[in-house]
Amino acid sequence: MPPEKTTAPSRFSRHESAASPEGLIQRLRDLSASFCLAEGGAHGPDHSERVYQQALFIGRHMRARLDILAPAALLHDIGRQKESASHGACCHARIGAEMAVPILENLGYAAEDIEAVCHCIRTHRFRGKDRPGSLEAQILFDADKLDSIGAIGIGRAFLFAGNIGARLHNPEQDPFQTRSYSLEDTAYREFRVKMSVVRTQMLTPIGRELAEERHAFMEAFFTRLSLEMGLAPCSCPSR
Ligand SMILES: [Fe+2]
Ligand SMILES: [Fe+2]
Repeated sequence: MPPEKTTAPSRFSRHESAASPEGLIQRLRDLSASFCLAEGGAHGPDHSERVYQQALFIGRHMRARLDILAPAALLHDIGRQKESASHGACCHARIGAEMAVPILENLGYAAEDIEAVCHCIRTHRFRGKDRPGSLEAQILFDADKLDSIGAIGIGRAFLFAGNIGARLHNPEQDPFQTRSYSLEDTAYREFRVKMSVVRTQMLTPIGRELAEERHAFMEAFFTRLSLEMGLAPCSCPSR
C-alpha cells in the first residue's frame, strides 16, 4: 500500500481560518526545513515530507485527526540539530516538542491542540518511557519508523555507511560482533541489527502491514546483493 499524495488536512485553528490550508501546511513545511536542512539525506526536509505523507495516508485510513497529525509530522525532527550539538546529551524528541510550542502559538493553534501535537513529537522516538498515548502519536511513530526500512531504509543505510567510509557489503561477518562506526558498519549490518526488528515495533495495524512488506523487500535486496557479490549470507540468527 504506497502512501498517496495528499492535499492539506481539513481542520485548522481560528487564526489560520483566513489563510488557505495549503498555505498553513507550506508555512509548517518551510519552518521544518529551516531547522532540518543541515541534517542531510537521512533526516533532512525530504524525510519530514515522507513522514508527513505516510502519516496522513495511515491517518486517513484510521480516521485520525489530520489537523494534529500534519503539524506533528512536519515538525517531528526540528530538535535534531540541538541533539547533535549536545552530542546526544539531549533527546531531539523532547526538545523538539518544546521548540514546537511557540511555533504553533504563532500559527494560532489552540492550547489543547498544541499539547496534542507536542505529545506526538515528544513520543515519536519511544524508547522506554514517553509512550505514544494517542492515535495520532502512534501513527507518527509508525510513519517515522517506516521511513527507516524498505528501499528508503536501505538507501539511508548506504548513505550513512558511505559517510563513515564503511565497506559496501559484509555478509560473512556476524553483525553482532562488529562495531558501529567501523569499516564493518555497513548497510547490511544496519539491516541485521536495527532495520530487521522494526516490523515488530509497529503500533498500528496498517503500520504493521506496511512494515512486513518493506521487510520482505529488504530480505530480497540483501540476498540479491550477496548473490551478485558471490558471498553467502551470514547464518547467524537475528537477535
Ligand atoms: Fe526523530
Ligand atoms: Fe524522523
